[in-house]
Order: sequence, then structure tokens, then C-alpha cells
Amino acid sequence: MWGGRFATGPAAIMERINVSIGFDQRLHAHDIRASKAHCAMLVKCGVLSAADGDAIAAGLDQIRDEIVTGRFVFRTELEDIHMNVEARLAEIIGPAAGRLHTARSRNDQVATDFRLWVRDTLDGIDGALKTFQAALLDQAECHAGTVMPGFTHLQAAQPVTFGHHLLAYVEMAGRDRSRFADCRRRLNECPLGAAALAGTSFPIDRAMTAAELGFDRPAANSLDAVSDRDFAMEFLAAAAICAIHLSRLAEEMVLWTSAQFRFIRLSDAFTTGSSIMPQKRNPDAAELTRAKSGRIIGNLNALLVVMKGLPLAYSKDMQDDKEPVFEAADTLELCLAAMTGMIADMTVNADAMLTAAGAGFITATDLADWLVRVLFLPFRQAHHITGRLVKLAESKGCGLDQISLAEMQAEEPGITPAVMDVLGVARSVASRTSFGGTAPVNVAAAVVAARGRFLL
Ligand code: ARG
Repeated sequence: MWGGRFATGPAAIMERINVSIGFDQRLHAHDIRASKAHCAMLVKCGVLSAADGDAIAAGLDQIRDEIVTGRFVFRTELEDIHMNVEARLAEIIGPAAGRLHTARSRNDQVATDFRLWVRDTLDGIDGALKTFQAALLDQAECHAGTVMPGFTHLQAAQPVTFGHHLLAYVEMAGRDRSRFADCRRRLNECPLGAAALAGTSFPIDRAMTAAELGFDRPAANSLDAVSDRDFAMEFLAAAAICAIHLSRLAEEMVLWTSAQFRFIRLSDAFTTGSSIMPQKRNPDAAELTRAKSGRIIGNLNALLVVMKGLPLAYSKDMQDDKEPVFEAADTLELCLAAMTGMIADMTVNADAMLTAAGAGFITATDLADWLVRVLFLPFRQAHHITGRLVKLAESKGCGLDQISLAEMQAEEPGITPAVMDVLGVARSVASRTSFGGTAPVNVAAAVVAARGRFLL
């Protein structure tokens, strides 16, 4: 492969550690696209004859067909996708194939291919996140008024609506999409033509290849162009945060499907049984989504550590950038699809949610707020009075709304029967009309607003 300088080929073990074709063949479409752009630019700039340019372009098209139809034989001794394509091109069109590599290097080539691949992947993930948001929004619309306990410390805190709870994940997915979009914006500079590291003496037109490949501009510095992997790290960072969001929702689904909660039921399509316990309906897809977030976080860490301490410009370490990114992208796409399916298919047990919302003195804050609003007590004092009433209810084994007026007035003489209005969970959620609050009217409006912000 390296021509005159080498007398013998590599040791078998050298070939094994060096080879990347097993994974970088995934870049084939982008490699061929970038090569065709480079070839057309070389012709336009007079570096390559039109006849050679035509032969190269036709040969590259043929190779793409061979790969897509599974007829292409990838050879490990040719190391990577770039050398495999070039070697096959030589078989098809002869020595003119060797002219394609004028004014470029595998260093700018792989940096370009990989950017193109990540860019396409970002677009796919954006679509998947949008579908995920649409599924959440449909359920949120149905359950804008479905009351459930809201939790802090996983202790029932204040009643909220299930729609409101789901909308929290719509926001997270929205931020994920904006992080990926941000990554895409910074990624979109073209390394091609930076050559090995220093640029080239040929009169090339880097703006032309950049435009042809859909980049906003050529990368400004040749050393940076071949050695930058920020786009891959940013992709993984955004993917890791997104995976964490999915994992948190997955964890909630595991809780909600349990016999202790019974808040939701997953469809048969997204449930597994037990080989020994016939009663089981296990939320395996949610558990696996929770687990797989760990891999994506690991992939981010793997690439950060690969890049740490690498001197400029290219080092072969950077060949190890691809597998973490491929694995993270595959895993994220799978988890997003599974979570979307589970959300779209789940049925909600509104009775169980309402019952749970009624337990645990969940309207205690409403009582304290009432004492502030109606009796003008300072909140701290209202908090103390309510605390004593909660203690009383607890000792009697009843809810706050079952304490008699006389018992309440023993703690605070100013309390009137009107207090009963705020002690029910439905009144409690309905009263939370502050911007971003859980009142069903808010939630219904928030669904409409979110559709406008995210789904258009
Ligand atoms: N397969 C290599 C990679 O992915 C291509 C670049 C090789 N460059 C080099 N100077 N050996 O990084």
C-alpha cells in the first residue's frame, strides 16, 4: 500500500490493530460523496483532466452500487474504507484512479466523511425526538386533567396532572433537540482540502467542495480541520444528556407499572412475561433504556479520553473516534424508538392515580396557602398550624379533609368552613394557574403551545 518505501508487509498483529474497515465501512456513502465532490473540484480547477474526472466519477458510482447491493468485497489488508474504495477504483478504471488522491489526504478525507455521517445522524435523531415529543403531547392532551401525586424525594408532595408531568419530558426533548442543532451548526465546516495537515500547493477551490457537500464554509485552519473532533464529542455529550432524560422517564415507567403504583399499563407489544411467574408483566424495554444510557455516557467518556492530550495534528488514536459515536447513535435511536412506542401505547389508570393523590396529606400546602390568603397569616405560622393539623390527621388515621371544623378551629380559631374547598385534590390542581403551573386549563394550553413550538 505504501509503495517504494516498504520491503515487506505488516505483521499479522500489526494489521489487526490497525484495521478499521470492520466499522468505518459505515462511512462508504459519505466517502464516495466527498470523493466525487473533490474530483469535480479538481477538474474545475484544472488539476485533473475532464476525461480522468469522468472516469473517476463513473467508477465511484459503480463502487457505490456494488456496496449498496452487497457485491463489494471489503479487504482487511486495505485497512479502511478510503483505501478499499481507492483500490477498487484502480481495478475498475486503471491508473487514473491514483489521481483522485491529489491535493488531499486520508486525514482530511476521514474528517470530512465523519462530519457528513454525524450530520446525517443528527438529522435522523432530530426527527426521532420530534416523534417522541408528538407521542408525549398526545398523551398529555388526553390527560390534561388526570390528577396524580406529584413527588419530591419520591414522597407524595402536591397533586399535579399526568399531562403536566409528561410535558416536563417534552421540554427536556426540546432542549435535546436544540443541543443537537447547536452541534450541527458548529459541525458544518468542511475539512476537505486541508490535506495531511498543512494545506496543499495545488490551486484547489475549498469553497466549491464545501458548498457541494452542504457545508457552510471550509474550515479556516488546516491543522484544526484534520485534528478537530469537537463535533463528535459534542454529539456524544448531547446524546448522553438525551439518554439521561430517557432513562429518567424509563425509571418512572418502571415505578408506574409496578403493583405498588399501578399508574399505567404498557401494551402487550411493549411488555414481557416471566418464564416462571405467570402474573408478571415486565417493563423490559424501559429497564433496558435505563441501562443503555450507561453505555452512551461511557461512549462520551471513551472519546474524551481518546482526545485528551493528543498533540496537533492527526494521530492514529483518532481512528478510535468512530466506534463510540456509532454505538451511541445506534443505541440512542433504539431507545428513542422504544420509549416512543411505550408512551404511545400505554394506558393510564386514572383511578389509581387519583387514589394515590388523595393519600399522604397532599393538600397540606393548599391549607397553608389558604391560611395566608384568607386569614393573612405569615406563611411560616400557617406552615406550623398546618403541620399540627397533619399530625392530628395522622394520629386519627384520616385525611386532612376529614378533620372536623371544630378540631381545626382548636388550632386556629379563624378557620371557616370555606377551607374545605381547597382540601380536595381536584381543587388543588385547578388552583395552580400560575405560568407553567399544573392547572388543567394551563396544561391544555401548554399542549397547544408545545405543538406550535416543537412540531411545526
Ligand atoms: N482510517 C483512518 C482513520 O479513521 C484514516 C486516516 C488515516 N490517516 C493516517 N495518517 N494514517 O483515522
